[in-house]
Amino acid sequence: MSIIKVSDLTYCYGKGTPFEKVALDNVSFNIEKGEFVAIIGHTGSGKSTLVSHLNGLLRADSGVVELDGENIFNKGYDLRSVRFRVGLVFQYPEYQLFEETVYKDIAFGPKNMGLSDEEVRERVIWAAKALEIKAELLNKSPFELSGGQKRRVAIAGVIAMRPEVLVLDEPAAGLDPAGRDRVMRLITDYRDRTGSTVVIVSHSMETAARYADKVVVLNNGKLFMCGSPDEVFSRADEIEKIGLSLPPVTKLIHSLIKEGYDLPENIYTAHQAAEALLSLKSKGGER
Ligand SMILES: Nc1ncnc2c1ncn2[C@@H]1O[C@H](COP(=O)(O)OP(=O)(O)O)[C@@H](O)[C@H]1O
Ligand SMILES: [Mg+2]
Repeated sequence: MSIIKVSDLTYCYGKGTPFEKVALDNVSFNIEKGEFVAIIGHTGSGKSTLVSHLNGLLRADSGVVELDGENIFNKGYDLRSVRFRVGLVFQYPEYQLFEETVYKDIAFGPKNMGLSDEEVRERVIWAAKALEIKAELLNKSPFELSGGQKRRVAIAGVIAMRPEVLVLDEPAAGLDPAGRDRVMRLITDYRDRTGSTVVIVSHSMETAARYADKVVVLNNGKLFMCGSPDEVFSRADEIEKIGLSLPPVTKLIHSLIKEGYDLPENIYTAHQAAEALLSLKSKGGER
């Protein structure tokens, strides 16, 4: 069953001004319960604008966002409840940490939900653990933390609300490779443990190919493609035409296929490539 249904979503910035910009143009797609969705597209394609509609932060000029079958833009719909059910982690969320302690920052969302102090406490501890934030950091100021730690605190603040849908806008942006891997691992662990629906905006084709059940490709405010990673990445020519590129390892495998090697096309990670090459070698490595 679809937990979120986006239909004909259109949104324009600066309507009626010389800076008018149609950021979303008739975008439609569904998100199923428990699905891991990656939204990809080059800079300015509308990814952040799109995810800001999923929790009602932006209001579409036309079109519909349904959460569990109800249009969140309907008059009288409690948008506040949407913010708790669809948790949005902004890009560079660490800039929005503002409390005196890490504990208070993570507690901010659950407190707003009107939970008891005891329940808030339990959630803060649970969320900190899920994001590998050590207990001794909870009483520090967020400003004493490293960039990677701050990022994890900001994400913990959103998952502490236990949203049914966790939306993250480029959660790994600006981190070093180890920090990126760690954040992605923690997000996927969280998802595996809770069965939550996860929507992630990503620049990395490899991230999309590796983790997502569904890939949504935006181009210039329009939905360009939507499907499983295999469906989307098998259309390599079209993807490259809009200025996106396949993971480097996929390109390497595709060029080996062109050379006549018998390899599968759907290889997106170094690990998959190693397995496919070893399996080919064990068969004699024939072209
Ligand atoms: N606050 C804003 N005011 C005016 N234009 C904006 C604003 N935010 C984004 N845009 C424009 O809308 C388009 C889509 O932006 P955005 O959703 O941020 O794309 P992405 O996240 O894919 O980089 C871009 O052309 C961008 O310049
Ligand atoms: Mg963006």
